[in-house]
Amino acid sequence: MLVSAKEMLQKAKAGHYAVGQFNINNLEWTKAILLTAQELSSPVILGVSEGAGKYMAGYKTVVGMVKGMMEEQKITVPVALHLDHGSYEGCLKCVEAGFSSIMFDGSHYPIDENVAKTKELVKIVAEHGMSLEAEVGSIGGEEDGVIGMGECADPDECKRIADLGVDMLAAGIGNIHGPYPANWQGLSFETLAAVQEKTGEMPLVLHGGTGIPEDMIKKAIDLGVSKINVNTECQLSFAAATRKYIEEGKDKIGKGYDPRKLLAPGFEAIKATVKEKMELFGSVGKA
Ligand code: 13P
Repeated sequence: MLVSAKEMLQKAKAGHYAVGQFNINNLEWTKAILLTAQELSSPVILGVSEGAGKYMAGYKTVVGMVKGMMEEQKITVPVALHLDHGSYEGCLKCVEAGFSSIMFDGSHYPIDENVAKTKELVKIVAEHGMSLEAEVGSIGGEEDGVIGMGECADPDECKRIADLGVDMLAAGIGNIHGPYPANWQGLSFETLAAVQEKTGEMPLVLHGGTGIPEDMIKKAIDLGVSKINVNTECQLSFAAATRKYIEEGKDKIGKGYDPRKLLAPGFEAIKATVKEKMELFGSVGKA
């Protein structure tokens, strides 16, 4: 059974660790993440971007796959199925499809519009027993070959959004999606501390988990981060393992071309990355 992320994040906050959100792209990704969470007895959040939802043939397909897999593979740890960076319309679609959690990313709207839309979603989500993540201060990343630096959120705007009754808040603290450029300034712990001070017990979300040094991750958790999103790192490890298999000519040996064989090293690589992150975030044994 899917659960909202509310309780797992409150527990993480109280226990000073973070729950990983790992984005899924297909069956192999989903299975690797769920099995690792079960093996390590860790709560987990499966992230689905709007693009990945489309790729996987729609949100209902995703819900069917995840629920079916949890039952057949006997996954008993808490699992939330979460829309990542949703538009308002995307959020409504995921409520209808049976997700257990959504993120509304209104960070590109003027703050009053972000507040108004987030407020409406707080109501809808509560009616369905789901959890809601909101965002203030945009998170940078590569777009058309240009790497945008992450913004730092305004702590007062964060308080306005937090007070609406969201379950978790993503505040930009200089983090970006994808690998960090060589001239990256690092996370702004000053902003993080100021945001947490204004928002009290609100579980904070750190996007762009790929490539943040371990000491910064630990400090972010100390300062109130309870959810960390990882996407690119699983993609990189999957791609490297798959490339190695092909370069070694293994697809040409026997039935090495069988997708169940060809995708196996990538699957194992995702498992290893997820394990490493769960250990770093401190969520192992917390299910
Ligand atoms: P990375 O791809 O940098 O790990 O970021 C993931 C993320 O924040 C998804 O919302």
